[in-house]
Amino acid sequence: MKELIEQLALEHRLDATSMAKLLHDAIHNAATLQLLRSTAVRTAREQFGRGIYIRGLIELSSYCHCDCLYCGLRRSNSQAERYRLTPEEILDCCEQGYRLGFRTFVLQSGEDATHTDEWLTPIICKIRTLYPDAAITLSLGERSETSYRKLKEAGANRYLLRHEAANEDLYASLHPHGRGLRHRIHCAKTLQNLGYQVGIGMMIGVKGQIIAHLIEDLQFITAMHPEMVGIGPFIPHPSTPLGSEPAGELNLTLATIAITRLLLPQALIPSTTALATLSSTGRTEGILSGANVIMPNLSPTNVRAKYAIYENKAAWGTEAAEGLSALENELQAIGYHIDYSRGDYH
Ligand code: 5AD
Repeated sequence: MKELIEQLALEHRLDATSMAKLLHDAIHNAATLQLLRSTAVRTAREQFGRGIYIRGLIELSSYCHCDCLYCGLRRSNSQAERYRLTPEEILDCCEQGYRLGFRTFVLQSGEDATHTDEWLTPIICKIRTLYPDAAITLSLGERSETSYRKLKEAGANRYLLRHEAANEDLYASLHPHGRGLRHRIHCAKTLQNLGYQVGIGMMIGVKGQIIAHLIEDLQFITAMHPEMVGIGPFIPHPSTPLGSEPAGELNLTLATIAITRLLLPQALIPSTTALATLSSTGRTEGILSGANVIMPNLSPTNVRAKYAIYENKAAWGTEAAEGLSALENELQAIGYHIDYSRGDYH
């Protein structure tokens, strides 16, 4: 496997058969996983040194008209507690975040029909005016090209829209009432064409996913060449149809992050909240697999528990914006530090 890892690190691509071999070996052979991760870490250090970018995550609304089988915010979950932040609350989050040192705000939300362009654009304009040196990242799901353009003109710079699954059948099985994989990809490409820095990605270990599907995801990521890639383990939420399914595997997640780093050396790759939720050491293990971004929670503390996309989602301590000193300590312990710059893609 050493040759395959070296080839991947050198050429930033690998054919599907070799990739499947590598991923399979990485989860069955500790030495392969170790070599894959250390090679990914070396690649990340060449690009970013030992700095980890931080992004302040603001969860605007837990209302969602989607019905994704895995997600606790799905519209069929009648148990979910719903909330919606006011524009003033969102601006307060930004003010607090800016004071703490954040220079990227991520506005993430369920697909809430009340979030029209008319509602969103003044908020984005305001953030852009108040914090001209901060990046604004949106994660608001599937919208029209016109909408994406208006939000960009209002001042947004980046957009996160995970593709969730590059295999059409798997995608359809997870999103039975959605608009389909083609439409999702169309949205991501539209965002790229409009000049956003774009993030895609997928969960690891969601029901029905096999290694061959992950290879399709990795080939899709290679072809899309996004600026950001979010990868985390599936974690069951009890009030969803997948509530009794097992969570995704830690080692498979780490191996997939490491391969993604080698495919896209410059990409911004978060060590995700799902990874930190799966394991107490998940966040540092993500960094020690080539991730270089952490997204602490900046949402008002009284709504954090309600943005429950999965069970026991980490939103406190080192996952919280007010826990930055704890995060700094955790990073120092593995020889890293917080990089407070905006952290754009280069
Ligand atoms: N487990 C892990 N990740 C999830 N997401 C949604 N539900 C879950 C879950 N149960 C991920 C999706 C979505 C992102 C915001 O969170 O990939 O794009």
